[in-house]
Amino acid sequence: MFIDTHCHLSSDDYDDIDLVLSENADNGIDKIIISGCTKESIVESLKLSKSYKNVFVTIGYHPSEASIVTDADLKKLEEDIHNSKVVGIGEIGLDYHYGKKNMKEQKSLFRKQMEMALRNKLPVVIHSRDATQDTIEILKEFPEVVGDIHCFSGSVETALIYISMGYKIGIGGVLTFKNSNLPTIVKKIGLENILLETDAPYLTPEPFRGKKNSSKYIPIIAKKLADIFQISLDEVGKTTSFNSIHLFDLR
Ligand code: NI
Repeated sequence: MFIDTHCHLSSDDYDDIDLVLSENADNGIDKIIISGCTKESIVESLKLSKSYKNVFVTIGYHPSEASIVTDADLKKLEEDIHNSKVVGIGEIGLDYHYGKKNMKEQKSLFRKQMEMALRNKLPVVIHSRDATQDTIEILKEFPEVVGDIHCFSGSVETALIYISMGYKIGIGGVLTFKNSNLPTIVKKIGLENILLETDAPYLTPEPFRGKKNSSKYIPIIAKKLADIFQISLDEVGKTTSFNSIHLFDLR
């Protein structure tokens, strides 16, 4: 019924992956997409996707890795994306939250992975933090590439720019936070442009904020959307799952 389009399921954070996945199933989460975005987590997420039928992965180097990723790493990445459980490249993008010191390296890594997505006809998962203008500028260089704006934060206008470029908007636990502006934004962009995500183990929805997140909390986010759009939980599940299956070609 629900798909978590973005989570991190590293063994550093979860002792018992079988338990996590059975709790997911109990809560109606059919499929999850793990994001492997460092060298170690790429290896680990690929391994998990091989072991579990309903676990898919996107892989790609996070902007925080920009100063350490080598050309050999990127070559290996382009081999790995041919694995049948890989449904996209990401999370990739720009993060200026801790400063712009390595902005050039971040942009270069971002562009190289956008080129890879274009060559291999894969969607991308975008991480953009305090870097909206530069992110949009680079995405515009690749009009044929589409994807998911993971953990969207920004204005309605920004969301609409991404949507006009063929991107879906990833909405997670932040929607449930007290002072979040996301309820107003999601209402204006419509459910047809939204993907459900947790970004677990981070960004746990209320009332569990501060605890470790898990895909099993997806229904809390879906319930909030159901309230905003005044539709049933089932309808939220159907529409967002359709959006996810269509974008990532899940099968
Ligand atoms: Ni993430």
